[in-house]
Amino acid sequence: MLSFFTMNFWQLVVFISSLAPLGRAASGNLTFPPGFRWGAATAAYQVEGAWNQSEKSPSIWDKVVHEYNHLIQDRSNGDVACDSYHLWKRDIQMAKELGLDFYRFSIAWTRLVPNGFSNAISEDGKNYYNNLIDGLLAHGIQPMPTLYHWDLPQRLQDLGGWTNPLVADWFADYARVAFSLFGDRVEYWITINEPTMVCELGYGLGLVAPLIKEPEVGKYMCIKNIMLAHAKAYRVYEREFKDRFNGKLSLANHYVWYEGETDSDGIAAELTRQFQYGLYLHAVYSKEGGWPPAVEQHIAENSRREGYNSSRLPAFTQEEKALARAVNHYSSRAVRQRRARVPAAQSSPFSGNFEFNVTYEGRPEWKKGRSFWFLINPAGLRNVLTWLKTRYGDHEVIITENGYSDVPDVVNDDVRINYFREYLTQVHRAITEDGVNVTGYTAWSLMDNIEWVEGYKSTFGLYQVDFSRAERPRTPRKSARYYASVVRANSLDVPEPQDIIMINGASQMWTSSMRIFVLLMALFTFRNT
Ligand SMILES: *[C@@H]1O[C@H](CO)[C@@H](O)[C@H](O)[C@H]1NC(C)=O
Ligand SMILES: *[C@@H]1O[C@H](CO)[C@@H](O)[C@H](O)[C@H]1NC(C)=O
Ligand SMILES: *[C@@H]1O[C@H](CO)[C@@H](O)[C@H](O)[C@H]1NC(C)=O
Ligand SMILES: *[C@@H]1O[C@H](CO)[C@@H](O)[C@H](O)[C@H]1NC(C)=O
Ligand SMILES: *[C@@H]1O[C@H](CO)[C@@H](O)[C@H](O)[C@H]1NC(C)=O
Repeated sequence: MLSFFTMNFWQLVVFISSLAPLGRAASGNLTFPPGFRWGAATAAYQVEGAWNQSEKSPSIWDKVVHEYNHLIQDRSNGDVACDSYHLWKRDIQMAKELGLDFYRFSIAWTRLVPNGFSNAISEDGKNYYNNLIDGLLAHGIQPMPTLYHWDLPQRLQDLGGWTNPLVADWFADYARVAFSLFGDRVEYWITINEPTMVCELGYGLGLVAPLIKEPEVGKYMCIKNIMLAHAKAYRVYEREFKDRFNGKLSLANHYVWYEGETDSDGIAAELTRQFQYGLYLHAVYSKEGGWPPAVEQHIAENSRREGYNSSRLPAFTQEEKALARAVNHYSSRAVRQRRARVPAAQSSPFSGNFEFNVTYEGRPEWKKGRSFWFLINPAGLRNVLTWLKTRYGDHEVIITENGYSDVPDVVNDDVRINYFREYLTQVHRAITEDGVNVTGYTAWSLMDNIEWVEGYKSTFGLYQVDFSRAERPRTPRKSARYYASVVRANSLDVPEPQDIIMINGASQMWTSSMRIFVLLMALFTFRNT
């Protein structure tokens, strides 16, 4: 079961909607607007290794991989991973080889402030991130740090982690340390990466660290606290650093596009979107703040029916609402209303929602693989972008993750190239046809790394990493050369390999997983509260 739900969750899958050659996307001008920025991303736990070196303390992932190693598909761990803690110079060189405008990495809370609390800063931790940031800037590459990419200090988890309301202050204190040390050189900060993953998977389904199965109550406590953590960190920056550094901050959210077949399914689809991303947007981007009203009402009614005294979704106070008011896309799901609720234990953001009568499935025209959850619908990304604009107004949007996973040994990764081209074509259309202000795109990932519970079996890297060798050599895949030429040209109109392997022609496709990780980031610098 674990494996099923894990797969279901992680493999936001994508089958290209036609097996016919994708070829070049529509002819015409496929150049991105001047100033469009290109990046690639990693996350601390997935690449750094050195889990117990220097003063670093254990994170919730260190605990999971060591104490619940059977939950990791290949029983691996991130103790060494890509060894980026030692090989950061090579990482910068790779970013340079690709011609990136920015490199998105994350700061390990446990490395910078090993106590979890910000009473002591690790010198080694500070030096590591200073070296990385300065090294990037020396090559003209902007650092884009994420403060939290899922690696909570275990000490804080022992105190309740994201369900303890005090965590918002702990996070803001840690954020202050990072802003004060690195803020002079950072233009874009990401506070929290994909809170939906943290709360739905970590505290709801219990499939990732910290493995807490609390879909009815714990998940919502996490969501509220994580939104407040973001808000408090944002306010710290605004009050104490904005004047000096003038950077921008955002959450990076995660989006699956949902659409309904009939009118009533359409209503369910919209409710689904409100559940899956409105919960993480409304507090920040809506006029009134707080939770999306339809979601709030729904959970309150369910809670009442279940005999709870108050809603399982904790309310915001007026003060908290004011504090929080200030985008990420995966695959698509059709929404169908059905008679019985999906049991809490079985619903996931990709199969159904136990709070109301709904299940999610693919459409026939979204081609499926042998694994039924593989669906490809590149247009879903464009739909998400226009939905965000329609719902929450015209904001700057940065796609903070988008990538494709394959088996590790494929170096001539034409399928990945195709994937990038298809999704980037949709981004281009959102910009040029729908007027969505997308200003940057981030490929996931710069290099192969430990893919959380999937271990090293599924790899997203533009660069292949040989994990069997101590030196962890990195080798550019064909997609790295493709991406570098797109970046250089600022356009999808680039010479490309003629021998693109089609999905139905590539035997490795059937054993590989395909995913989109598109995180969109809307920056909330626009609102006067
Ligand atoms: C192509 O599109 C880009 C970005 O929208 C624009 O700046 C450029 O002028 C266009 N080029 C031509 C030849 O139309
Ligand atoms: C750090 O962890 C490794 C295993 O990854 C272990 O071999 C080593 O002894 C540990 N070092 C310290 C100082 O605990
Ligand atoms: C919860 O509801 C019960 C029954 O209505 C009531 O006796 C109790 O005081 C309530 N508790 C709280 C904390 O409101
Ligand atoms: C689910 O939908 C059916 C039919 O529309 C309805 O009769 C039932 O009450 C609903 N169940 C819940 C729990 O909302
Ligand atoms: C997009 O957002 C950026 C950053 O806020 C802004 O400078 C630019 O003018 C915006 N572009 C459009 C077309 O709105």
